[in-house]
Amino acid sequence: MSISVNKNPMEFHLFNQKISYIIRVDEETGEVLSCYFGKHIQHKDSYSYLSEKIERPCTTSLVEGNHKSSLEFMRREYPDFGHGDFRTAAFDIHTEVSGSICEFKYVGYNLFKGRKAVQGKPHLRIENEKDAETLEIILVDAVSKVRMILTYLILEESASVVRSVRFVNEGKKPVIIKKAMSFSMDFRDKDYKMLSLSGTWARERHIEKSLLHPGVQSVYSTRGTSGHTFNPFFALMKENAEEYQGEVYGFSLLYSGNFLGLIDVDTFETARVMMGIHPQDFSWKLNTSEEFETPECIMTYSSTGLNDLSQELHKIIMKHIVREEHRQDIRPVLINNWEATYFDFNEEKIIDFAEEAATLGFDLFVLDDGWFEGRNDDTTSLSDWNPDLSKLPEGISGLSRKVKEMGISFGLWFEPEMVSKGTNIFETHPEYLVGHPMRKRTHGRNQYVLDFSNDEVVELVFGMMEKILTESEISYIKWDMNRSITEAWSMNLPAERQGEFYHRYIMGVYKLYEKLIDAFPEVLFESCASGGGRFDPGMLYYAPQTWASDDTDAWERVKIQYGTSVVYPLKTIGTHVSAVPNHQVGRITSLKARNETAYFGSFGYEMDITKMSEEEKNQVRKHILFFKEKRQLIQHGDLYRLLSPFEGNIASWMVLSKDQKEGLVYICQALAIPNAPQIRIKLKGLNEKSKYQVVGSDHWHYGDELMYLGILFNEHYFESADNVQFVLNHDFRTYLLEIKEI
Ligand code: GLA
Repeated sequence: MSISVNKNPMEFHLFNQKISYIIRVDEETGEVLSCYFGKHIQHKDSYSYLSEKIERPCTTSLVEGNHKSSLEFMRREYPDFGHGDFRTAAFDIHTEVSGSICEFKYVGYNLFKGRKAVQGKPHLRIENEKDAETLEIILVDAVSKVRMILTYLILEESASVVRSVRFVNEGKKPVIIKKAMSFSMDFRDKDYKMLSLSGTWARERHIEKSLLHPGVQSVYSTRGTSGHTFNPFFALMKENAEEYQGEVYGFSLLYSGNFLGLIDVDTFETARVMMGIHPQDFSWKLNTSEEFETPECIMTYSSTGLNDLSQELHKIIMKHIVREEHRQDIRPVLINNWEATYFDFNEEKIIDFAEEAATLGFDLFVLDDGWFEGRNDDTTSLSDWNPDLSKLPEGISGLSRKVKEMGISFGLWFEPEMVSKGTNIFETHPEYLVGHPMRKRTHGRNQYVLDFSNDEVVELVFGMMEKILTESEISYIKWDMNRSITEAWSMNLPAERQGEFYHRYIMGVYKLYEKLIDAFPEVLFESCASGGGRFDPGMLYYAPQTWASDDTDAWERVKIQYGTSVVYPLKTIGTHVSAVPNHQVGRITSLKARNETAYFGSFGYEMDITKMSEEEKNQVRKHILFFKEKRQLIQHGDLYRLLSPFEGNIASWMVLSKDQKEGLVYICQALAIPNAPQIRIKLKGLNEKSKYQVVGSDHWHYGDELMYLGILFNEHYFESADNVQFVLNHDFRTYLLEIKEI
């Protein structure tokens, strides 16, 4: 890994063994230009040929008499608006003197090992200076004296560059930042498919692909959370790129609030790509000497397809985003009472439930919504975080101790950012609610949002949670967030600073996480937002696992987990077995299919185990035992997606240990097909020359056979290495194959 600098004119080449990222400063105009991001190339002492200049009609020029100096055709690293570039701008700054006209010109750069310290927000954790290098490119607007620092971080081992931008006001007057994307970059061509992860409640992170077309295409959230609709991620795949071939770029934003990821294809087929805080309702007042820093965006490249890109992202998330304590840990097999009881429980029921859970082999019992005063439905009590003694006479402290005595840990649900009508905060501190005092407040799930942009609110909620955590034996918290933000107004901010609300809100959320983690470092957090409505790397920085979806139907989960795995490691994905008919789609699938699907994540249950027959309980026991045997492999192995549920009737993936000695292959066929054709599923990642046995079969195969010939599968029989078994034909059938090197 290195950052090479050519000095006349200035050119920067960031590279490691996998990638190169080249930027140059235009000698005439001082513009910072995008030159190259892709597979590693050797360093050269000049890249002037990479900023092709061209004269075209109907343009404006920066340099008098030089018609080739139009910004309209330059490929730019962080483009402004107003000097002849009519494409989407990466930023917008208003000064008192000249409105939105600014001219940021290159003045210098800094290079250093590691990275600068960052406080109070998610960022790439670089614990060892040797792992990364940072380049800062500094530009200044001579009139306002605002400095803009474009930051690029390159890692030794990852095919990624991490970008962000910092603005420092060194002038005498305040300025207003109206838009500040985390990065922008102009690609040479537009011949890509855009892949996004989109959906809604109960249908999160489905894979969508579409060819780039002239004009703007985007993914975004304006909900205050990263949201169900689009994940803060998109990929660009060369037209021929697939899972295991072709060039793919991924862009993943470390942020949990409003975001925009945008591609603007111009008429000359340049694709401008950017991502950052959504400019809708955003503005930030920057007084003299103040700084504003954008969230970080991870830009990743692969020359060998989407699966390799995913593995790169998984590594960077597990190594540089998730807290150190949770990188190699073993996540508990949990059981949550939500779908088993909803709000209808008392201590007796919970004790029976937890006792059963302990005998079945669960590690952790989680008490979900409904444990606090008066919370018998979703209309009341949020923010009154006092245990409901009519349901739980000994409170959470008594209950948690009893559960712990059974030999399993205790976890608790909170929705810290919310308030219901009639609660103490609602009645006594209306100024703590988000919304304008003279305007109507829209409710969502009968609840209102607390103003987390106000430190007092964060402190108050921390105090309430701290009390319960201190009094009780709590080893896990499920932090939920069940509505989007509307009427975004903080009574703690002056009118001209209301554009800061959304960002200050999410910074308040991060602050509460930090305070809780500081005070209770041993607690495992799982984030949640009506299922998977805030599944993003920003959340994973604090809470190392995220509840993927309220939809736990096996086949729906195949799609959700498959899509989620494009960015997120299996260990970060909360996956549960629930009852049938499924509560979201009414589908009936076997206990086997539900378990085998849920194995591939941070595994758990949320169904009434006390109502199961002995036969079913035995099955549950076996499933938990099997998962525990394989947990290390599943949660720390490499993932290979084999067949996509978005493209056919059969979905398949496998995990393989890092030493390639042990694998687990998952196959799910949605609908049974009578008299079906034979299908061979080709495995990935094995050592070609090693001999592997499919557990249960007497025969072995070389790795190359399993990868290039594949394993025969059809719905009437299933051949595990020549061992043909007859299986009953039915819908939503899953198969697991264990592969071992011999
Ligand atoms: C959300 C979550 C569920 C559950 C309920 C409780 O919908 O996604 O898992 O916790 O809230 O109200």
